[in-house]
Amino acid sequence: MSTPPLVIRPETAADRDALRALHRAAFGGEAEAKLVDALHAEGAVVLSLVAEEGGQIAGHVLYSRLTLDPPCAGALSLAPVSVAPARQKRAIGSRLIADAHRMLAARGEKIVFVLGDPAYYERFGFSAAAAKPFRTPYDGEYMQALTLAPEAPKSGTVRYPAAFARLE
Ligand SMILES: CC(C)(COP(=O)(O)OP(=O)(O)OC[C@H]1O[C@@H](n2cnc3c(N)ncnc32)[C@H](O)[C@@H]1OP(=O)(O)O)[C@@H](O)C(=O)NCCC(=O)NCCS
Repeated sequence: MSTPPLVIRPETAADRDALRALHRAAFGGEAEAKLVDALHAEGAVVLSLVAEEGGQIAGHVLYSRLTLDPPCAGALSLAPVSVAPARQKRAIGSRLIADAHRMLAARGEKIVFVLGDPAYYERFGFSAAAAKPFRTPYDGEYMQALTLAPEAPKSGTVRYPAAFARLE
């Protein structure tokens, strides 16, 4: 049987329960499901895309607003991204992230930060070197940045939405 087409679309309120279940299954805990709810509650969500396959949620990626000092608009956090365990390694995560970055660049967003394994995120252009001149709450080899525009800030102090501080 052929695989149904993958549809990438914005999250709607009707997706919330399915997304909680997706994050629990992908991460094996409650933290990311709670993070998504908390980011929505504080109004920090900038872009949230779901991947749907055969009417089922197969993946999700969420971008939230970061603030920079000195002030500069256009900074985002990528977190979380998850793909249903049975559907991993079929480029669904890559499709979600690539589509999101095209949309964000078109909207004039300038820089994305992610905390994660460089072996995965380097393929999208993220690098630890680009993040190094910034001070973040998560400094280290797993903190990476990707510029979406030539005028992106090159250094500064990064403040995350409050939801991240409550992450277990
Ligand atoms: C990470 C995740 C979103 C990737 O989604 P996906 O649809 O399976 O990814 P893709 O098919 O686009 O890419 C698969 C590639 O990513 C690699 N990969 C997946 N997770 C990885 C990880 N945590 N670290 C390093 N590489 C990883 C795979 O080995 C594979 O590599 P290859 O292309 O060289 O074979 C998915 O595996 C997932 O939901 N994992 C659990 C939640 C998670 O860890 N989220 C990221 C937190 S930083």
